[in-house]
This record gives sequence, C-alpha cells and structure tokens, in this order.
Amino acid sequence: MGRDPLAFLLGLRDRYGDIARVPLGGETLYLFSHPDLVRDVLVTNHRNFHKGRGLERAKMLLGEGLLTSEDEFHLRQRRLSQPAFHRQRIAAYGAIMAEYAASRRDRWHDGAIIDAHTEMMALTLAIVGKTLFDADVEDEAAEIGEALTTTFESFNVGFFLPFGHLLARLPLPATLRFRKARARLDATIYRLIAERRRSPSDRGDLLSMLLVAQDTEGDGRGMSDLQLRDEAMTIFLAGHETTANALTWTWYLLSQHPDVEARLHAEVDAALGGRLATVDDLGALPYTRMVLAESMRLYPPAWIVGRRAVAPFDVNGYTVPARSIVLACQYTMHRDPRWFPAPDRFDPERFAPDRHAERPKFAYFPFGGGPRVCIGEQFAWMEGVLALATIAQRWRLRLVEGHPVALQPIITLRPKFGMRMHVAARKRRSLGAATSEG
Ligand code: HEM
Repeated sequence: MGRDPLAFLLGLRDRYGDIARVPLGGETLYLFSHPDLVRDVLVTNHRNFHKGRGLERAKMLLGEGLLTSEDEFHLRQRRLSQPAFHRQRIAAYGAIMAEYAASRRDRWHDGAIIDAHTEMMALTLAIVGKTLFDADVEDEAAEIGEALTTTFESFNVGFFLPFGHLLARLPLPATLRFRKARARLDATIYRLIAERRRSPSDRGDLLSMLLVAQDTEGDGRGMSDLQLRDEAMTIFLAGHETTANALTWTWYLLSQHPDVEARLHAEVDAALGGRLATVDDLGALPYTRMVLAESMRLYPPAWIVGRRAVAPFDVNGYTVPARSIVLACQYTMHRDPRWFPAPDRFDPERFAPDRHAERPKFAYFPFGGGPRVCIGEQFAWMEGVLALATIAQRWRLRLVEGHPVALQPIITLRPKFGMRMHVAARKRRSLGAATSEG
C-alpha cells in the first residue's frame, strides 16, 4: 500500500470483490467498491462517519477549515462559505478564468518545450488567487508551488505506517521542511487577509464573501481571523492543485488521441472562433466538458476518500466495527468494467448525457458526494472547460519523446515526473471554420 497504493487497491478489488477488509498499520481498513456502498457511506449514513486517517496531519496545515472540520462546526463553516460558491457568484469568475488562461497561453511560443504540470499549477494558482483574494499571486506562484510540493510530500512520509501521525510531530527533516513551507504559505495568506481587513468592501471575490458572512441560522456571528485563515488556506490549496492535475492529464490524453483532439478543436473553433471565451460559451462546449469528465475518470485528481466509522454498522451481511476506516477509491471505481467497459480506453463519448445517466450515481464521483461534496465543483468545471478551450484555441501540446509518464498518488493524483510537452501552433484556415492541423 505504501509503495504502490493504486495497484494494491485495484488488486484488492479484483481479488475480493465489493467489500475487502485489510488489516494495515494497526488499523482495519475496508475498501468499498460498489457505487451503492459508496453512496451509503457518503450520503445515506454520513452521520456514522468522520473523516478518515490523515486528518490530524491535514489539520497541521489547514487548521479547522471546511475540508478538515467535523460535525456542527463543519456545518456552520459550510453555511458561511456556501454563498461564496453560489452559481451566480461563480459565473462572475468566468472572465478571470478565461483571461488568465489566455495570458498564460500567450507566453508560450511555437516549438517551445514546457512542463504542462508546472504551467497548469501556475495558472490555477493565479486564478484562485485572483478569485479568492482579488490578488495577483502569479509572481509568487513558483515559490508557493514549491512550498505546496514540500507540504504534500511531507504529508506522505509514513502516511500508512502505524503512528504515522506521531512521526509528523518529531523534528525530522521532513517535518522541519513542512513547517517552513507552512510558514511561507501562512505569510502570503495573512498578508492578503490583513490587506483586506484594512479596506473591507465587497470586491466581488471569495474573501469578501467570507469576511461579511454571518451565521444567521446559528450564532449570528461571522468568522474570526483564524477561521478566515483556515478557510482561505483550504480553498487556496483544495482549489488549485486538483484542477491543475485534471488539466495536465487532459493535455496528456489529448496528445495521445489525435481523433479526440481534432473533435475538441472543431468544437472550440465553431464556438469561439478566435475570440476570448466567456461563461456564455459554456453551453456550446459540451464535448470539451466530456473530454474533461473522461480525463477525470481515468485520472481522478482526488483519487481516494476515507472515512472512519463512529459506530459499528451492517453492510451486505457483514458488520464493520466502530473505528474502522472505510475507503471509497475513485481511481478503482472509475476503472471498473461493470460501469466502464474497456476501462483503460480514453473515450469521452462515455459522458454523452444519456450514457452517463445510465450508470449508478457513484460509479463516477470525482468530487465526492453527500454533505461533504466538493464545494468548488461548479468552479472547477467552469475553470477546466474555459482553460481547455482557451489554450486549445491556439496550441496543440505533444508529449516530449521519451518523457516518462507515471502516477504519483500523494494527496492528489499528480504526474510523478511532471509533463514535458512541445507547444505547436495550430493553423486555422478561417475563424469558425474547420481547422487544418500543421
Ligand atoms: C477538479 C477539481 C477538483 C476535484 C477533483 C475536487 C475534489 C474534491 C473531493 C473529492 C472532495 C471531497 C473530499 C471528501 O469527501 O473527503 C472535495 C472537497 C472540497 N473541495 Fe474540491 N475538488 C476540486 C476543485 C475544488 C475547487 C476549485 C475548490 C475551491 C475553489 C475546492 C474546494 C473544496 C473544499 C473547500 C472541500 C471541502 C468541502 C467540505 O468538506 O465541506 N475544490 N473536493
């Protein structure tokens, strides 16, 4: 599990079926591999579960933010944050998303070699910085990206060992690196919060919403500075690494499937011609969205969700004891031939609306589900589709020959060696017409 969790979990499912019990590192883990079982955990019986292992360590970075808090406190924070993610509010971010994607795209030149992962991280970080804080963090992107990598990697040290969370408290080199990186991230976020406290008008960004939010259903109060920091840090982190991975894997898949790429180009050209995309174009980009959906099936950026059972519960004739950890793994579920025949094949048609509707809901759950479903789901779809369309308008990306492609399942599913790609200009015959690829 420590060495190759994806292969290990696929093997468990293939060997033991929908419920597999694994004693590991002093814990009892259950892998649930049927969509109905996942629904039971995330939706129907969600009250019987807390977030799983790793929370203690996640809290070292995220404090008591949406991702890491539990029960009443989580509900309150969710109530306070929800308006900031309202569909209309998110729609206003569309312009930023397309603009930032265009500005990143316009820095490349024909024949350049880029690391698509680094580029997508910088892009999504800049977008979340602007939409969350109305701040340009692009200049700091490289440094923040490094701090993030360090924090994520040190999370993984000993993750599956007994007492792994205690290791994180010892002054080991990884722990010290983690603390330094956290201090770096904190400095950025506290600076942005302080700037905002000085001029607290609604600037249309997420932070403005969080600052003015009052818990009218609860204690009527707003968020303290510390809560604000925790939420901001959470959204900052949860809101960019995942989308960057989704985009990176999509570029990789497109580079391997010129037929899909050609169809995507045709759609983008017909919908946009040469102009900048807007939120109103989303309806004319259904295939682009299907490509992104299929990419997140094969490479789900959040590849596993864990929960700890509060009390024992019965499932399919078994009793799962209290304190067990239940795992719902997007990576294995999304590659289950029962729901996705020939599961390793990249085929966006699987997400044609009628075909998607035929599958059980939790056969595909890149954003989780139930009360803790990703609060940024709409944000991510919009950002993903607009970024893909904007970049594909101008460039094709091709994997550099010999570049190794491997999965690195830390907290999110990253490309282990980055994604070195050639940038090639697309040749357009005329705006809005079919394209002729050079
Ligand atoms: C492709 C992009 C994304 C993916 C695949 C993704 C996936 C997920 C998943 C699976 C969860 C649930 C985790 C669990 O149940 O344990 C989650 C929660 C969350 N996500 Fe996302 N996410 C994405 C983008 C975003 C964005 C753009 C934001 C914010 C701008 C965001 C903010 C959050 C937050 C705050 C939570 C915690 C919600 C709660 O527990 O109430 N995510 N995400």
